[in-house]
Amino acid sequence: TAALREQARQILESNWTGRFTRPAPRLYPHQWSWDAAFIALGWAHVDQKRAQQELRHLFRAQWRNGLVPHIVFDRRARGYFPGPQVWETHRCPHAPARKATSGVVQPPLHATAAWAIYQQATDRSAARAFLEELFPKLVAWHDYLFRERDPQGEGLVYIRHPWESGMDNAPLWDGIEQRMHLNPSDRPRYRRVDTMLVAEADRPTGAEYDRYVYLVRLFAEAGYDEARIREACPFLVQDVLFNTLLCQAEQDLAEIASVLGEDPEPFRQRARRVAEAVNRCLWDEQRALYFDYDLGVSQRIWVRMAACFTPLFASIPDGLQAARLVSHLEASGFFNWDGSRYSVPSYDPNGLGFSPVQYWRGPVWININWLLIEGLARYGYTEHAAHLCRTVRLLVERHGFYEYYHPYTGEGHGSEQFSWTAALVLDLLA
Ligand code: DGY
Repeated sequence: TAALREQARQILESNWTGRFTRPAPRLYPHQWSWDAAFIALGWAHVDQKRAQQELRHLFRAQWRNGLVPHIVFDRRARGYFPGPQVWETHRCPHAPARKATSGVVQPPLHATAAWAIYQQATDRSAARAFLEELFPKLVAWHDYLFRERDPQGEGLVYIRHPWESGMDNAPLWDGIEQRMHLNPSDRPRYRRVDTMLVAEADRPTGAEYDRYVYLVRLFAEAGYDEARIREACPFLVQDVLFNTLLCQAEQDLAEIASVLGEDPEPFRQRARRVAEAVNRCLWDEQRALYFDYDLGVSQRIWVRMAACFTPLFASIPDGLQAARLVSHLEASGFFNWDGSRYSVPSYDPNGLGFSPVQYWRGPVWININWLLIEGLARYGYTEHAAHLCRTVRLLVERHGFYEYYHPYTGEGHGSEQFSWTAALVLDLLA
């Protein structure tokens, strides 16, 4: 265990730039939003200052309307597409003038990471000062989501780009992307870099990238005005994972408020509102699972991802729902005790279009496993949680610290030296 922890620490160390931690050495040379939160959870165990710095650096690029961009570009780094010239965030009056960022968001795990840093801190007074500094920014971030992404006040926020889900090419988005027919004149022209750095078969396809870039151009041309985007955007989804993490983040923000002598009640209320809305709108009683909702066609997205089980992480289901989720997990292809496969693959192995190697279409991701481990433990499913923990450990011991893993062979795919895999191993082995 000590050796594995040391390897994990060294990966974070080698991806540390002096200002933030790269998610991976070459494939992701800038700072990414949800990566930063997972990475901070790892740093919290070995270097409190760096954990704090990771989130500070991200929030320095926060927009004036509260948006936390999914990428903060490092001007010194080269070789990533799409760069600042594609995002053109200067078209938005809220974007920071002196920082280059993207114009979409990623799942809001930041308050959760900040609270974990405080709880593990060896230097309490530094941690408290850190919370004081971050608190108004976290509040502005969540306010942004509720104000701009939940215009009807339903208690659920929407995402408007596959990148906002964090699960870029998940089969969840296939239907929407098929409806997004691009005429030859709409097809953006660009050159990808990712497929030159890792196996092309591990990455999203060209047709998917066309749609990612098309959406980015649509946002830029709308000047990042959310009302205009909402009218024109073919991709508007109430996503299970995103809302789950927001719900937990509000609960953690309430804890932070308490420590700082602020009123925690408004945050608790918002957490309850999200939890109720997730249960009301996204839970499927018959199938015993949570599903995304496509606002474009007012329909559920009946695609079974490992992420559909994650509301366990935010204590959203009641005991009975949780028991049904766990039976579902065991009865489906997601979870197996016998070791013939590594659990939990990101997408149902019996699902249409499953791929054991292609990014979010099947491989095992450590962050989703981490969320499920925490969630299962919360409801007392400690053996299930321990089993998943062992899986994670076996994967990194046998195959290294990869971005994602083949669920049958365990072979690593995507980038090696992947920061959040290392960070979450540090957290799980702590
Ligand atoms: C990438 O570049 O693949 C990221 O996942 C999107 O930001």
